[in-house]
Amino acid sequence: MRLDGRDAAAVADAAKHLAAGELVAFPTETVYGLGARADDDAAVAKIFALKGRPTGHPLIVHVADRAEAERFGVISPLAERLVEAFWPGPVTVIVRRVPGAAAAAAAGQATIGLRCPAHPIAHALLVAARAAGVPGVAAPSANRFGRISPTTAAHVIEEFGEDLLVLDGGAAQLGIESAIVDCSRDRPALLRPGVLTRERIEAVLGSPLAGADIAAPRAPGTLEAHYAPRAKLRLMPTQMLRTALEVLGSDPLKLAVYSRSVPSGVATGVRHRRMPARPEQAAHELFAVLRELDSTGVHLIWVEEPPPGPEWDGVRDRLSRAAAT
Ligand code: TXA
Ligand code: MG
Repeated sequence: MRLDGRDAAAVADAAKHLAAGELVAFPTETVYGLGARADDDAAVAKIFALKGRPTGHPLIVHVADRAEAERFGVISPLAERLVEAFWPGPVTVIVRRVPGAAAAAAAGQATIGLRCPAHPIAHALLVAARAAGVPGVAAPSANRFGRISPTTAAHVIEEFGEDLLVLDGGAAQLGIESAIVDCSRDRPALLRPGVLTRERIEAVLGSPLAGADIAAPRAPGTLEAHYAPRAKLRLMPTQMLRTALEVLGSDPLKLAVYSRSVPSGVATGVRHRRMPARPEQAAHELFAVLRELDSTGVHLIWVEEPPPGPEWDGVRDRLSRAAAT
C-alpha cells in the first residue's frame, strides 16, 4: 500500500504499524529504507526474512536525534564529532552497542550502526514512532538482498509488491547510501563511501580514515558483490569501452551502455544513457538508471568508469560492486 508521506495521517498510520511490530518502507535523503522497531527482535526478524538477508549482516538503526541514539550506542569522542558536524545527514557511525539494546538489528555484534536521516518524512516518522513508544527504527535499504537499492516508492513496490506499507516521498535526493564510519576501533575507518567525501569526514575527525579493507570482517554487509542488476554489468575505462563497442557492440537487443560520452561505436538501437558530469547528479540517478537499463531485458550493461577523484568515490564504489558478480 502506497501512502503519500507528506500527509500527516499517513505518517501517523505508519508509526502505528511500526509500534505494532510491522514493517514500513520510508524515504530518506539517501535511498528508501525498510523499517521495523529496533527494540523488537521479532519485528526485526521480518526485515531479514522479507529481504532474504543473511542474519549475520547488521542493520543500521535510525534515530530522530542524538539523545535517541544514546539508547543504542555509546557516542565516543570521535563519533561525537561526526554527529555534531553531519547529523541529521547521510553519515552512519558505528559505535559500541549499549548491552542488551537492539541485539537482532546489530546481528549480535558488540557494535551498532546509528544514523539520523535528514529527510523530513523520515524525521516525521521517527518522531511519530517515538511518541507511539518506538525508540528507534532499524532499516536497511528496501531491496531484496544483493539487489539495486531503491530511490523511489515505485522501486520499493517492484521489490516487495503492494502489500508492504510504503510512504512515498518522491525520488531520494542523494541516491546512494550513507557513508559508514566505524568509530569503534582505535583508528576510524570508512566502511562505505557516500556522497560526503572522505576529505570532509577527515577534516571533521582531524585524522585520516583507514580504508574499508582493514575492517572487512566487521562489515559483513559491505560485500564485494552487491547492487546486482540481472544483466551482466562491466565497468570499463574509456578506451576499452570504445574498442569493445567497435568490436562487439552490434547487438542492440543484448547491450545497454551508460557512459559520459556518446561513443561512436554505439550501434543504432543500443540503449544508451549519458552519465552526468557532476558526481552528485550521477549519484542521484545511478540506481534508477541501472534499474531502467536492466528492465529492458538486455544481457549486458557496459559502463564507462567515472573520472578519478574522491568526489566520485561513492559512485565508483557502487558501480564496482554492481560489476562484481
Ligand atoms: O543510507 C543508508 O544508510 C540506508 C538508508 C535506508 O538509511 N541504509 C542502508 O542500510 O544502506 P543497509 O542495511 O543496506 O546497509 C547497512 C550497512 C551494511 O553494509 C552493514 O554491514 C553495515 O551497514 N553495518 C551495520 N551495522 C554495522 C556494524 N555494527 N558494524 C559494521 N557494519 C555495520
Ligand atoms: Mg543495502
